[in-house]
Amino acid sequence: MRSKIVAGNWKMNKNSEGTEALLVELSAKLPDTEAKVMVSPTFVNLGSAVRQLQGSKIEVIAQNMHFAESGAFTGEISADMLLNIGINTVILGHSERRAYFGETDEILKKKVKAALAKNMTVMFCFGEELEDRKSGNHFNVVESQLKNALFELDQSVWSSIILAYEPVWAIGTGETASPEQAQEMHAFIRKTIAAAFNQDIADNVSILYGGSVKPGNAEEIFSKPDVDGGLIGGAALVADDFIAIINGI
Ligand code: PGA
Repeated sequence: MRSKIVAGNWKMNKNSEGTEALLVELSAKLPDTEAKVMVSPTFVNLGSAVRQLQGSKIEVIAQNMHFAESGAFTGEISADMLLNIGINTVILGHSERRAYFGETDEILKKKVKAALAKNMTVMFCFGEELEDRKSGNHFNVVESQLKNALFELDQSVWSSIILAYEPVWAIGTGETASPEQAQEMHAFIRKTIAAAFNQDIADNVSILYGGSVKPGNAEEIFSKPDVDGGLIGGAALVADDFIAIINGI
């Protein structure tokens, strides 16, 4: 059965004191919820966040990783390094990684395979640009992003995949896809996965929406049948906002 998930992508925000303080506040205010709650601080604060949240319901996840096991890749982090500090889930394919750091579908395919080979859970992000939506090409773009990175995977790994549909035009812009637009795309994604794999996999994969989710719009977006939660950027940096979003599940 698919899970409800609310994940906070902190991006390049919060130093170590800020990370600790936000986690203290989130832990104190965390409601009793059916949702899995995840937070993703920066790499340098992952280890301390894991230690701080020991025994907590909040899972610490990483924002990225490299596909190689180890070696001469200055500035990069491997799956084993994440696992070694207690991180079992990694976000891959975020649009900022694609746009600013040249991550192509080909690179993402390798990263996804590498993470899954280590039994990690992958939160795979994808979504169209504004021009794609304006030209009516958004379904094709999303389908090809999924196909290029995920369609060669074995059926057996799908229980370790979370999908996060994030239309690029809605990320950090204050502009949100309407609940109807989100539902329409999520239903399309599920149909695409069913056609490429099978209905069971499609029914059981969690599909999150991301892009300017806030306390004021979370509940309505999450109420859509194919939306299983959210990947939250800006609003995840404010404890009360993130908690309000979790309460929207
Ligand atoms: P946003 O970011 O909520 O600030 O739009 C979402 C994301 O990038 O995951």
